[in-house]
Amino acid sequence: MKFAAFSLVICTICAVSLVHVSVAQISPDDFVKAHNKVRKEVGVVPISWNKTLAAKEEELAIPRISSCNVIEDPFGEIAVQASYPLTAAEAVALWASEKPYYDYDKNTCVGRNCEHYTQVVWNESVTVGCTRAQCRSGYWFISCRYYPEGNTPLERPYKKH
Ligand SMILES: *[C@@H]1O[C@H](CO)[C@@H](O)[C@H](O)[C@H]1NC(C)=O
Ligand SMILES: *[C@@H]1O[C@H](CO)[C@@H](O)[C@H](O)[C@H]1NC(C)=O
Repeated sequence: MKFAAFSLVICTICAVSLVHVSVAQISPDDFVKAHNKVRKEVGVVPISWNKTLAAKEEELAIPRISSCNVIEDPFGEIAVQASYPLTAAEAVALWASEKPYYDYDKNTCVGRNCEHYTQVVWNESVTVGCTRAQCRSGYWFISCRYYPEGNTPLERPYKKH
């Protein structure tokens, strides 16, 4: 029993330091720049970094690394996985690749999901916090959380001018 409790403490420490190391390799600015490039294309206001959201994603990453089963919180969170240590720009580009599937007039995704894209360009989501972590399997994931959250049902991500 004593031994089990001890290993648990060690594992928790391992997980925390693993997540911290991964996060330190990507600067918040990389996430912000990548978002703002995609947002600018459709005339959406720039996004800025929110430390509280980043801390939340870091905290959530710890239990996620064991299974790598990252289930997105439908209220303001998006995530992506890869077999390699994907960069902020790569993660945002993967989300932005859904752009052709967003039908603005019908305000729906056609042929494929596009909710990652609509969250990235959600005009009212003016702050973001992200993290990157490596799972025990070796896979990596990036997750971002937005405030205010986007993808509000029946609303469009932005106004077309
Ligand atoms: C950052 O996000 C939190 C929610 O987690 C929110 O309460 C706070 O107002 C946000 N900060 C800014 C500057 O919007
Ligand atoms: C974004 O929101 C601001 C108000 O916060 C508004 O003035 C602007 O027109 C909006 N832009 C788009 C593209 O929806």
